[in-house]
Amino acid sequence: MEPIIAGNWKMNKEPGESRALVQKLMELTGDVKDRIMILIPPFTSLASVGELVRNSRFKLGAQNMHWERSGAYTGEISGLFLKAVGCDYVVIGHSERRHVMGETDEMINKKLKTALEIGLIPILCAGEKEEEREAGKTEAVIERQIKEALKDIENEAHKIIFAYEPVWAIGTGKTATSQQAVEVHKFIRGMLKKPSTILYGGSVKPENVDTLMKEEEIQGALVGGASLKPESFARIIKFTKDS
Ligand code: PGA
Repeated sequence: MEPIIAGNWKMNKEPGESRALVQKLMELTGDVKDRIMILIPPFTSLASVGELVRNSRFKLGAQNMHWERSGAYTGEISGLFLKAVGCDYVVIGHSERRHVMGETDEMINKKLKTALEIGLIPILCAGEKEEEREAGKTEAVIERQIKEALKDIENEAHKIIFAYEPVWAIGTGKTATSQQAVEVHKFIRGMLKKPSTILYGGSVKPENVDTLMKEEEIQGALVGGASLKPESFARIIKFTKDS
């Protein structure tokens, strides 16, 4: 399978800046072939980025969605709307949603079910906090997050892309070592009945992507900060296992 490199822009880039970033990225990655490249801009940029990447090698993803298809949910976005503007993917359960916005395992499970029903490919994030790792609870936390997320949909897990994102590595510059990432990837894989794609996320940068991607267990990267600059994201997309 082709490795996946996904750029989560978080709450950055208004529509004009988004278009400029995509145009520059397209120039810098014209020669890239064997990678799946996913852009995950904020909601307000999805339509314009969607138009720019239509018929290109870039795919479109959203950062979140509601579990209902429509209704009285002020401020929320339906997965159907995401599909209508060209999204194939949706991030579910990002640590900022879990720990800053108070999203629960139950909400994440409902979102996953809806995403699968309507034909969006979920990118499900899981990861432990620093104090949980220090207390030796990494596997217990990951196990709970994955188990609860997959409640009643265990048989569809192979349709989900998993992303191991240790909270202590997100936006901190502290990347997990390859060994730390591989250990957790193997643990997640052990919980699944069929093979699934597992990405690593947390301070992935041009300087460390080659080392991480050398590991067979790491099938791609979910990139935050370094996806906001076209040069650094293009370099990450063009990672090499030969260096
Ligand atoms: P980061 O974010 O690359 O800025 O650490 C990763 C993420 O939150 O997906």
